[in-house]
Amino acid sequence: MPYQIGVAPRVRPLQTVEGLGDRLRLIAFAERQAHFAFLEAAERFTDAPVELVKAWKWVALEEAKHESWLLKRLMEIGQDVSAVAVNLNLYHSFAECKSAKDFALYISDAEERGRVGAERFAEVLQTRDPETAKVFAQIAFEEREHIALVEKFFS
Ligand SMILES: [Fe+2]
Ligand SMILES: [Fe+2]
Repeated sequence: MPYQIGVAPRVRPLQTVEGLGDRLRLIAFAERQAHFAFLEAAERFTDAPVELVKAWKWVALEEAKHESWLLKRLMEIGQDVSAVAVNLNLYHSFAECKSAKDFALYISDAEERGRVGAERFAEVLQTRDPETAKVFAQIAFEEREHIALVEKFFS
């Protein structure tokens, strides 16, 4: 994927197509970082219950699917994925987690913030860009199941 890794500049106004593209690109890259974080967690945290490892491998695939939806939409609105730099901060912060529980709590927190943001974008874009709104709404909906994993395994 031709992302440009570097120092991510400030996003442009949401009312512009470039600004919408900035958000689609950033969130697509966050989904990609989550994809690799889940895959690596499944290998690295040998203290995780077998069922949770299985769930993480499934979630990893779901995050890659979310990324693909966002990149498709980014292209459809005529924005280039490599036009603006993105950074790996999210991925690096996941890599610092020391245990299965630590990782599960940390990533579910990030997913919850992502879910709230996606829900908000879905609302804001409803009339102006229903197609993008639909993508964000579906992602927000699906994140709920990922976030629920932490309750299921560590409550
Ligand atoms: Fe996701
Ligand atoms: Fe997720």
